[in-house]
Amino acid sequence: MRNYALALVGALAARASAECTLDVLMTATNDLFTAQTAGNTQAASFADTIKYMENRKTTDITKGILSQALKIDHNRSQHDVTQCAAFSEFIVTNSAKPYVIATQMRLDNTTYKVSQIDTILTTKGDWLFNVTGTMYWASREKWDEIPADKRDSRAVIQAAADAYCDIFNDKNVKVPWGSPCARLEGGSYTGKGQASDRCDVGIPSGVKLINRQYVIDEAYGTVDIQMDFGGAGGLPDSHEFRIEGGKIRYVHTLSSCGGKSCM
Ligand SMILES: *[C@@H]1O[C@H](CO)[C@@H](O)[C@H](O)[C@H]1NC(C)=O
Ligand SMILES: *[C@@H]1O[C@H](CO)[C@@H](O)[C@H](O)[C@H]1NC(C)=O
Ligand SMILES: *[C@@H]1O[C@H](CO)[C@@H](O)[C@H](O)[C@H]1NC(C)=O
Repeated sequence: MRNYALALVGALAARASAECTLDVLMTATNDLFTAQTAGNTQAASFADTIKYMENRKTTDITKGILSQALKIDHNRSQHDVTQCAAFSEFIVTNSAKPYVIATQMRLDNTTYKVSQIDTILTTKGDWLFNVTGTMYWASREKWDEIPADKRDSRAVIQAAADAYCDIFNDKNVKVPWGSPCARLEGGSYTGKGQASDRCDVGIPSGVKLINRQYVIDEAYGTVDIQMDFGGAGGLPDSHEFRIEGGKIRYVHTLSSCGGKSCM
């Protein structure tokens, strides 16, 4: 009985000393960056076995994009302590092999090692792919940290992004459009980098955006949603949103055509 009690105290102490923190997540996103730059699929913060999906299909991590050494020209990472998850956007402008990559990572809640990686990967031939445009606009936008007293709650951030995703199938949905608002869709921009920029343009109807998977960072007002664009079997898709004061400021979309004709 006594030994059992001691063992229990020991186990609780071990649990309390390890927790998901911003530091743990930032170490993981740094490791992801280093791994992608080196084409190395192992890192100190990665679990031995990782559930790895590329464009929403289970993929052998040693054969996926992470196994290719890439020179990353632009990176941005966001951190979701509540879910113990992280998001990274990488732009690779290499003209022979250009990529725009959106990656979600999830950490195991006991070991705090990366146990799941979901990547949406786009290159030449994918929806509106133009890495020059992506790099040009992404590097001009401001996705800085939001002062603590101006931050939206996770619920507000997610609701704004969900409303945007829902209007593709239901025109009655009220979307909290920001003004200005700009959408970087593949490499094409709905705005001009001006105060008059709008996002409520070119929205189709009857398109379902389903199986949504979120990474939310309240400090930056961001949420990434990976989903199937166009119902079951639709395009593997990432929509990354920046919300300011409850309204949509920026949207970055990546849709993989994966050999299907989607243009
Ligand atoms: C990632 O981008 C930031 C700028 O947003 C830059 O300061 C940093 O050096 C980049 N990371 C690496 C490892 O190049
Ligand atoms: C870890 O816990 C959080 C909070 O309950 C949860 O949202 C997340 O899905 C968990 N992660 C994994 C990999 O199970
Ligand atoms: C790609 O984007 C750049 C920068 O916005 C633009 O100058 C160029 O015309 C675009 N290319 C195509 C094929 O649309």
